[in-house]
Amino acid sequence: MKILVVGGGGREHTLVWKIVQSPRVERVFAAPGNAGTAAIAENLNLRPTDIEGLGKAAKEKGIDLAVVGPEAPLASGIMDYFDSLGIPIFGPTKAATQVESSKVFARNLMEKYDIPCPKGAIFSSYPEAREYLQEQRPPVVIKADGLAAGKGVIIAGSLAEAHKALGDIMEAKIFGSAGDRVVIDGYLSGREVSLIAFTDGKTVSPMVPACDYKKIGDNDRGPNTGGMGSYSPPGFFSAGMTKKVTKDILLPAVKAMAKEGMPYKGVLYAGVMIVNGEPVVLEFNARFGDPETQVVLPLLKADLVDILMAVVQGNLDRVKIEWSSEACVGVVMASDGYPGSYKTGFPIQGIDSVDKDVLVFHAGTKLGNDGIIYTDGGRVLTVVGVGKDMAEAREKVYRNIPNIYFEGCHYRKDIALREVDRINSKP
Ligand code: GLY
Repeated sequence: MKILVVGGGGREHTLVWKIVQSPRVERVFAAPGNAGTAAIAENLNLRPTDIEGLGKAAKEKGIDLAVVGPEAPLASGIMDYFDSLGIPIFGPTKAATQVESSKVFARNLMEKYDIPCPKGAIFSSYPEAREYLQEQRPPVVIKADGLAAGKGVIIAGSLAEAHKALGDIMEAKIFGSAGDRVVIDGYLSGREVSLIAFTDGKTVSPMVPACDYKKIGDNDRGPNTGGMGSYSPPGFFSAGMTKKVTKDILLPAVKAMAKEGMPYKGVLYAGVMIVNGEPVVLEFNARFGDPETQVVLPLLKADLVDILMAVVQGNLDRVKIEWSSEACVGVVMASDGYPGSYKTGFPIQGIDSVDKDVLVFHAGTKLGNDGIIYTDGGRVLTVVGVGKDMAEAREKVYRNIPNIYFEGCHYRKDIALREVDRINSKP
């Protein structure tokens, strides 16, 4: 098979890494990819949102399956377009992607089908939203309806902050038309878990659960990022809870989408919080998580291509999907200044000097004409370790990170630390 992976981050390098392991695969392309995918596949110089360009390239290369990483092309209808060209593609349709691309859609779906979500309200009028806010007790969560490059959800600790966020979104339109409507939710405290599942629209098969770290600094300090690390599986999220989330959230959502005339195929990602023992949905995403994918796919024992094809062909019930019972930790190495402005183009040293069983997934990297790998983004690499338990996985990662260097590189020191402490403190 010839497979095209759309995207160029750590998630996509991980997808390519897993896909090339399949005996069914002859050639893999990444668009645009990065230096990591260039080493194991062929990069195509196309943006993920250049849907027509991607369709043309897929036809020319004779692609048998396209796999989409980021949400933007899905929300723009890449699935529908490839389908019209007769190119098999893994991912939901534009209409089904609304579970992620419209917070209002997701909220209405959850309310209509009794899928547990935080108490909240939808507004398309700025004055009405302001009036509602006045009656709320902070913290509150303000969500821009549309896609906002991961920045559209603001947790406001005070009413002043909430009003500022609301004004920025609905009046100043910092996210453009994505802020025409908002959802205002009550705040839930706790640890969020990402449970991501394969689904062909009928069968739902959850992956191992994972936790990600959104803040730039240790102990969750500082501004939000695209994700600074992750681990799997969280010990506080039992196998029973995975079953419960599948039964009470993922399956009902997939059935609801079918009832609404928008059959859902691909990956459905539920960000859930456990409140008094019950899971509540904070968000749905229509794709693999980043950086969750970097710690989930190394635990997948099955052939990913078999699963992707079964989803596309609608026979996921026939595939046996086995997961390792080991633990996995991923730490993101970022450029100086990230998540604010940063410089790129610094040579990266030492990637090849990590232990053989440590994985280095690239995100913002570029292969220079001189054969040297240079930084090319805010999040540069995810260093991943698998171990018999979380402590071993974590130790592997942090022992190897100092072998890698680029100017200004920084990373969190506390990824999976609480998880290891929690396990160690058990009698
Ligand atoms: N890790 C969060 C996300 O992928 O949206």
